[in-house]
Parts: sequence; C-alpha cells; structure tokens
Amino acid sequence: MNILLLGSGAREHALARALAHAPETTRLVVAPGNPGTASIATNIAVDPTCATSVVELARSMEADLVVVGPEAPLVAGVADAVREAGFPCFGPGKEAAQLEGSKAFAKEIMEAAQVPTAGAYVCTTMDQVEQALEDFGAPYVVKDDGLAAGKGVVVTEDRQEALDHASACLSKEHGAVLIEDYLDGPEISLFCVCDGTRVYPLAPAQDFKRHGENNTGPNTGGMGAYSPLTWAPEDIGQQVVEKVAQPVVDEMARRGTPFIGLLYCGLAMTSRGMKVVEFNVRFGDPETQAVLARLQSSLPELLLAAAEGKLDEVEPPAFSHQAAVDVVLAAPGYPANAITGGIITGIEEAEKVEGVHVLHAGTVRDDDDNLISAGGRVLSIVALGDCVTHARERAYEALNCIDLPGGYARRDIAAGR
Ligand code: GLY
Repeated sequence: MNILLLGSGAREHALARALAHAPETTRLVVAPGNPGTASIATNIAVDPTCATSVVELARSMEADLVVVGPEAPLVAGVADAVREAGFPCFGPGKEAAQLEGSKAFAKEIMEAAQVPTAGAYVCTTMDQVEQALEDFGAPYVVKDDGLAAGKGVVVTEDRQEALDHASACLSKEHGAVLIEDYLDGPEISLFCVCDGTRVYPLAPAQDFKRHGENNTGPNTGGMGAYSPLTWAPEDIGQQVVEKVAQPVVDEMARRGTPFIGLLYCGLAMTSRGMKVVEFNVRFGDPETQAVLARLQSSLPELLLAAAEGKLDEVEPPAFSHQAAVDVVLAAPGYPANAITGGIITGIEEAEKVEGVHVLHAGTVRDDDDNLISAGGRVLSIVALGDCVTHARERAYEALNCIDLPGGYARRDIAAGR
C-alpha cells in the first residue's frame, strides 16, 4: 500500500511509525514531516492545507490511502478534495470537521443526537457573556467557538480572566464564544475510528493539558499522556461508542455529511455521569503517542477500511496489555513564547532504555546536521512497561538522557496511576 500522511508533529511521527512497521505498507510519504519521520519514511515539503498540492502529490505517488493528521487541513476541506480526486482518505470532510471547527456546531449535533454534555450559552456580545458567567458561576469555562491551536479554552475562578478571554475571542472576525457549565471529575480521551456509519474505539488515554505540575499553569497542547486507564470502567470504549460516538456518526450521516476519520471524544467522568467536554476530528496529541505504542493490529488496514466505508470487514483494533507513558519535552517559554533554536542531544542514549522510543515534534536539522528545536513541543518520550509505574520510570530515565538548553518537562506525568 502507498500511503500519504499529512502533518509534522509527534502525533504524525507516531502514526508514521505504526504505518511504516506494518507489512501492508510499501511506501510511506509524509508531507511535510519532520526529522523523525525522515528516518522511517520519505518527507516531501508540501503544505498539508493546500488541497491542490496534496492531490497532486497523491497522484504522483499513486497513493492507496491518504491519512490527514492535523485539524487545519480537515477544516480547510483537504479530505473532500482528496476523495473527489478518487483517493481513499482517512479524515472527515469540511462539513463534518465542523465538529472541531465550531464548538457551537458540536453542541448542536450533541443536542440532536442526545449526547450528554455540559450546558452552554453561545455568546456573540459581552452582555451575553456577562449574563452567562452570572448564570453558571465559578469556576468559569470560556471556549473560543473556532480553532485556536490549543489556546481556545480557559477554565478559571477569576471572573476578569474569563471576561478578558471572552473579549479576545469575540474580537476575531465572526468571533463567538461558549460559556459552559463546569464539569467535575477526571478526563478521558477516547479515539473512535469511524467509516461514515460504523465505529471502532481505540484504547483510552489521559492527557495532561496544563503546563505546570499538579495541573497548574496555562493550558497547553498537552504535556504528556498514558494508556491504559486502570481506574476507568473496563467497558469505557463500548460505553462511549453507544452513548456518544455512534449517535454522532448517525446524526452526521442523517445530515448527509458522514463522518469518516477519527472522532476524538474528550470526556469528563463527572459525579453526574460521563459527559462530553469536546470533540476533535483527528488523533489527539500527545495521547496518540501512548495509544499507538500499544497497538498490535495493523494501522494501515484499519484506516483504509474506515476510509473505504468497510470497517465491518476488519477486526477491531487489538492492544498490548503493556502500559505506555508519553512525556513531552517542551521548549523554554512554551506555551506563551517558545524559544527555538536550542541544540538537542542524547536521543540515541534515551532510546537505549528498554521499551523507549523518542518521537519528534518541533525539530529541524541545521546545515551541520545538528538537531535543533523549532517549536513549542519538541519531543515526545514514549515508554512501554509492564504497568503504568514501570513505563513512567522508563520514560523519565530516557528523558534524563536528553539535553535541550532550558527545556521543560512535567515530572508528574502518570504519577500515582
Ligand atoms: N490532547 C489534546 C488535543 O489533541 O487536542
């Protein structure tokens, strides 16, 4: 199978690794990729949000499958263009991608599909925002309606901070903001592979979104993750399919905008039952790094079956009983102002730790072939172990081998799980 994968983060390096290792894969091209994907696939410098260039590349490499990693190309309609050109594509079309592209649209779908979620007001003026904050009370949950690269959500006890974030969201063109009821309880990320009508759940994971230890500081794209969740109900996957993913997939099909791709269900296990916090329409980062480390069945076979609407023709995905822990190494200044350009060393040493592999995110090679930091989240250090504690010991042993001047990693990822 010739596979084209779009994207350049650690999530795409994890996807590339799982695709490249499968016997079905003949050729893997990543556009644009990163230095990590370059070592297992062919990187081609194509803008993944440019539908014309992506279709041209799919044609030139005679792709059997196109897998879209990040949300931006999906919201821009790249998956529609790829499918229209005749290539099977794992990723929803522009309309279905609105489940992530507009939080107000996601709420509309959840209401229509009777999916449990937090109550919310969609506000377009500051008067509405003030009233909604008054109605729900603290802690205040303020969400940008549109895509915001991980910076769209503020949860705070500070009313002024809530007002400031709402005002920043409303100042954008066609800006809208959601004020939501606060959901208590631990969060779970459950990825569902969808073929337009059917759904297969992957193994659950938990993400550590805050920058600081003990879940303090600003929200980030995610500072680490682990899987499985021994504290979650054993049938969590099935529960999420029945109560969340299948009703949403049915509603999208009913509207004539079928969901083909990865429905990321972000859930809170509240005192009032499981509720949806958010949907994303692509694999999550950094959870994918932990989930795919445990995948034992064929990823290309699964994604192709979904892309072709034939999920019933393949077995549900199978996972190792081992645990996986993923620790993100971030650049100094991340998330506000990431300082790039630091020389990274020690990856080879880190990968000598048993069960460990290191995935690249914001890295580039300079003219002297040094590995240089080039983004906020720089590396994901992923370790497998017999249990979460074992895996996290290995992940931190490996992290200690890596040097990035001023680099920062949380030291409490998966602690006590
Ligand atoms: N881990 C959060 C996200 O991928 O959006």
